Amino acid sequence: MKKVTYITQKEEAKTATASSGNLMELAIANNIEGIEGDCGGVCSCATCHIHLTPEDFETVGGPGEIEEEMLELEDNVSPYSRLACQVPISSLPDQITVKVAN
Ligand code: FES
Repeated sequence: MKKVTYITQKEEAKTATASSGNLMELAIANNIEGIEGDCGGVCSCATCHIHLTPEDFETVGGPGEIEEEMLELEDNVSPYSRLACQVPISSLPDQITVKVAN
């Protein structure tokens, strides 16, 4: 079981746990503000944009080619941006804090 804390743009923190799926699905299931998941997780809407810490980015890995192209269109991009639907829970450390970018 992985423990994920989402920090919203309003600086509200909410922690959820999961053992499968991805960071977008977990956020939707827990009503995390700012994660919409409009495209259903097929990497074509960027409404699931999050920022990882540099350490977690190293562990989880960077975006794929299509994900990177989507991120280029986003406003609030950081070098540690990911689209939550492209981050499987299985790739996470036991505990992680992510920042919602929207
Ligand atoms: S849910 Fe659309 S890009 Fe992630």
